[in-house]
Amino acid sequence: MIVKEIKKDVYGIVMNDWDRRLFDEIIPLPDGTTYNAYLIKDKKNVLIDTSDPRKTDKFISVIRKISGGRIDYVISNHSEQDHSGSIPAVLNEFPDAKVITGEKGAGLLNRLLLIPPEKFISVKDGEEIDIGERTLKFFHTPWVHWPETIITYNPSDRILFPCDLFGSHLATSNFYAAENQKLYESAKRYYAEIMMPFRSHIRKHLDLIQALKIDVIAPSHGPVHNKSEFIISAYKDWVSDNVKNEVVIPYVSMHGSVEKMVDFFIDVLIEREITVKPFNLTVADTGELAMALVDAATVVLGTPTVLGGPHPSALYATYLFKILRPKTRFISIIGSFGWGGNTVKIITDMLHKDIEVIEPVIVNGYPDKETFSSLEKLADTIQIKHKGLK
Ligand code: FEO
Repeated sequence: MIVKEIKKDVYGIVMNDWDRRLFDEIIPLPDGTTYNAYLIKDKKNVLIDTSDPRKTDKFISVIRKISGGRIDYVISNHSEQDHSGSIPAVLNEFPDAKVITGEKGAGLLNRLLLIPPEKFISVKDGEEIDIGERTLKFFHTPWVHWPETIITYNPSDRILFPCDLFGSHLATSNFYAAENQKLYESAKRYYAEIMMPFRSHIRKHLDLIQALKIDVIAPSHGPVHNKSEFIISAYKDWVSDNVKNEVVIPYVSMHGSVEKMVDFFIDVLIEREITVKPFNLTVADTGELAMALVDAATVVLGTPTVLGGPHPSALYATYLFKILRPKTRFISIIGSFGWGGNTVKIITDMLHKDIEVIEPVIVNGYPDKETFSSLEKLADTIQIKHKGLK
């Protein structure tokens, strides 16, 4: 746990979860995570978000100590339980406290945590509340991560509390973010897994955020940013339509045909000065794959045909690709079959219609001279499609 006074009477409370290795039962957490809450002591004492239920007891004991025994408002920027899960315990400890959130957030918290409707104060987009020496302003920023998400801005101290947005799953003893490669990669992995599906929404919210005067960005996961430009410029790049001269190859091979094709294909792409990121789906880290999808112009899926369709691992990767909605422009499929099947149709039917499918290379049995020639042609096509990309 870390408790840090960010500005006078504004505290960050970071509950480190060093050992957590999975989030939402799907997202790998190689570096654990943190649940961050914030406390502002003013005429009204305000708690901004809370903590995951697995940390409730320790969290309540810290809040009890720092607050001096009074919480007037609990702001819920986001209803997901890793931030809201300790609200019932906070209300139990401080029975006069009200929960400030948007209308949608109140509905969700009522259903998810059974908090009664009379406990809520619903705020509109742009609404402000006076808490004494400070005024807090709320912005409705849907889809940073769920549809109800809001952002709290403290203009007096120039602090933005964006909850999930700008976070990272990184447990560390440092309160403030070090602007290094480790942080960049943690934040990018987090963006890929959690924020990428909402890229167009975030782009609009970034315009709003950039118009604010901000010294500190205080998210609810990972280190706090006291130089906001680092994370904002990374997000501007990730949410832009810019893609890189990269091919991501998620693949699975049963008897070596697909592996042989992938191996050859990697080499011919490299010869054409295209960056290649292969992922053997039997051992790949889903987070690494998601991160690679943030920038790549093209994805080429490698799969054998099993019982008439794609290998289940390839199907899973396709579904992940569909729901993460990366800005990938082109996709193709390479693979093998023994006696037929609908592999290409099953995969392409799952894709969003705005992605261009480049003619797949599917071989009957083991790849031969003709297969390698087709793979070279596929590499040529990708090279042409990538013209001008860096
Ligand atoms: Fe960190 Fe969407 O919860």
